[in-house]
Amino acid sequence: MSVAELQRLEAARVVGSYERYPVEFVRGEGSRLWDVEGREYLDFLCGISVTSLGHCHPRIVAAVQEQAGRLMHTSNLFYTEPAMRLAERLSTCSLQGKVYFANSGAEAVEAALKLVRKARRGGDVVVVHNAFHGRTFGALSATPQEAKQAPFAPLVPGFRAVEPTPEAVAGAVDGHTAAVLLEPIQGEGGIHILSNELLAAARQACDEHGAALVFDEIQCGMGRTGTLWAYEQIGVVPDAIITAKALGGGMPIGALITGPRLADTLSAGDHGSTFAGGPVVAAAALAALDIVDDPALLVRVREQGSELCDALAEMPHVSEVRGRGLMLACRVDVSAPEVVRRALLEHALVVNATGPDTIRLLPPLTLDPPDLTVGAQRLRAALAAA
Ligand SMILES: Cc1ncc(COP(=O)(O)O)c(C=O)c1O
Repeated sequence: MSVAELQRLEAARVVGSYERYPVEFVRGEGSRLWDVEGREYLDFLCGISVTSLGHCHPRIVAAVQEQAGRLMHTSNLFYTEPAMRLAERLSTCSLQGKVYFANSGAEAVEAALKLVRKARRGGDVVVVHNAFHGRTFGALSATPQEAKQAPFAPLVPGFRAVEPTPEAVAGAVDGHTAAVLLEPIQGEGGIHILSNELLAAARQACDEHGAALVFDEIQCGMGRTGTLWAYEQIGVVPDAIITAKALGGGMPIGALITGPRLADTLSAGDHGSTFAGGPVVAAAALAALDIVDDPALLVRVREQGSELCDALAEMPHVSEVRGRGLMLACRVDVSAPEVVRRALLEHALVVNATGPDTIRLLPPLTLDPPDLTVGAQRLRAALAAA
């Protein structure tokens, strides 16, 4: 079908909750995408940090095909090996506690919210302004952005939003606080790194008052910043982390990973989901973890990140570059959405605008060095024409 036909179908039959570009992708391989007319694109967005190991990585495709041909679904009334192995893998490569599987980021956030509420028998959750934790009601209530929340009021009670400063976060925690929930690097908010001081102050305040510190690593985890988990570079260990996006190598899976203290808080009947942790997505995630949990790959992510950072800083209209590893954004003094559109339609480069002045780049962690140069050249050309 042509893009025009798809647009007609969408207008008639699809809820208008997304704004799409007039491009239909039909194939992907590594850092490349192809549209329906055969045009080749360089993907510096990875489906918003999902296909972080490139499109159709052969080891992930093989794992999915093998598992899909054998057993796709049983429900969580029974055991399947991929889920149990994945839980062990996720626990041992992070907080050493236990894992709850979900189907998406927001669902994993919901599980974390229920966990910390149950652990404290109630209590508030402290979040910071500009955070993004998802679109379901609990996750949305933890996302203090007026435009996203206002149409859906009343929200879930018990959330307290404060400025992202060490003083404000520490000052908001008291004996009634269930948890502090933070993205170590805010993704949808435009790639803002929360300072080490803020994260350390949150840790200390949680310890003093018996609250849980939860890091939302849905966007910044799974190698994106050059370590498997972003918290490893900060020296602050949370009580739980939430992962999704790149975890499934392109397949939909999320997970809540606890440390030992919260490992046994949820018990049978407390929470659940029909599809969560199914054998196909778990097999995909095991393959993705095998690839990304590799010191050589993670070093390359840090090196390529700093190379791309330097290139961005030299580009026309760029006034600031933010981020860590290959989770980057630049502030521009022209319309970021227009530059992004031009990059896509005229220069065959996929990037994204998180706001009127911010361009976000989330390139594949498996990027070939020449593609980094090509991507930077294409973005420069799109900016130069602004
Ligand atoms: C930090 C963070 N948390 C939660 C979510 C929600 O994840 P999902 O869209 O899979 O529900 C996102 C999605 O962008 C995210 O970046």
